[in-house]
Amino acid sequence: MRLPGLIDVHVHLREPGGEHKETFATGTAAALAGGVTTVLAMPNTSPPITDAETFALADARARAGARCDYGIFLGATDTNAPLPAALQQRAAGLKIYVNDTFGPLRVESLAVVMRHLRHWRGAGPVAVHAEGLFVPALAALAALTGTHVHFCHVSRAAEIETIRLAKERGFPITCEVTPHHLWLTEDDLPRLGAFGDMRPRLATRADRDALWAHLDVVDCIATDHAPHTIEEKQSPTPPPGVPGLETTLPLLLTAVHEGRLSMEKLIDLTHRRPRAIFNLPAQPDTYVEVDPDAEWVLPEQGWFTKVGWSPFAGMRVRGRVVRTVVRGQTAFEEGRVLALPGTGRNVRDAALH
Ligand code: NCD
Ligand code: ZN
Ligand code: ZN
Repeated sequence: MRLPGLIDVHVHLREPGGEHKETFATGTAAALAGGVTTVLAMPNTSPPITDAETFALADARARAGARCDYGIFLGATDTNAPLPAALQQRAAGLKIYVNDTFGPLRVESLAVVMRHLRHWRGAGPVAVHAEGLFVPALAALAALTGTHVHFCHVSRAAEIETIRLAKERGFPITCEVTPHHLWLTEDDLPRLGAFGDMRPRLATRADRDALWAHLDVVDCIATDHAPHTIEEKQSPTPPPGVPGLETTLPLLLTAVHEGRLSMEKLIDLTHRRPRAIFNLPAQPDTYVEVDPDAEWVLPEQGWFTKVGWSPFAGMRVRGRVVRTVVRGQTAFEEGRVLALPGTGRNVRDAALH
């Protein structure tokens, strides 16, 4: 069975500065193994991507390393609004971290958030890490400024209910949820420990059930692939975040098999809506071949992500990526990544449109 190449609008590929966790070359190998043919990379790197110079640095790394197509987010700071118009157009979108999470990027002042929203004219939306009361706050600011706000990794019942109400009133907002918030809960924490720690944290079963119940207002499934090494996770101060690029499609195909998701909705969530929201070009002759009947257990080891672990290890799934084809070239087949570093293109390159 063929699916369009998945578009993952929320991944951390750790270049520059975190190459021991992941690189464009290793992260996009994981993407292709998971059926993902476009990744949008987050700006909380070292240094963070906040101006023309750091953007050029990340883009050069991606151009050399990426094995699938990619976009790069700009990160909002207290002092970088307004970002130059040409730079806005080159970015996947603008990322604002309102809440505390991994990395130094944070914007806490209403005045600064307003300034970013009023001046954003990029080809993609303003994506926000906003939890709890910041969800209605950012939804209101989207409506007041008329700027499209995309909510990253929505994880709680009250948040998705708020998004439903705001969407019903026509607010210019969209949202994504992650596989870990759809499949794992705080009940898994005793078993997973730091390997189940991420932001937003795993929530209650009621929160997880609400995400499934409100799936009709969810626009995208995004992994929030946030790799940290086993050593870092076992340290006294483990950083938050879990990998997800290779496990998402098997989990979603399992949900289709169980009747919890239609194949059309799966394609909406992983391809059509991400493409429309982020204004991405078509990838001609690009697709994923899956075996929807393959039953297997997600393993502890053997992943392409550099960190080599998964919070989903041990789960029985039904559905497997057989082959991933990008622009007519077989990029992944029979457990091997064939696409070379440097074959991926920036989604904002004019030649793609
Ligand atoms: C992310 C990371 O490690 O970069 N961590 C996480 O827990 N999700 C940052 C983020 O997306 O908030
Ligand atoms: Zn986040
Ligand atoms: Zn993230």
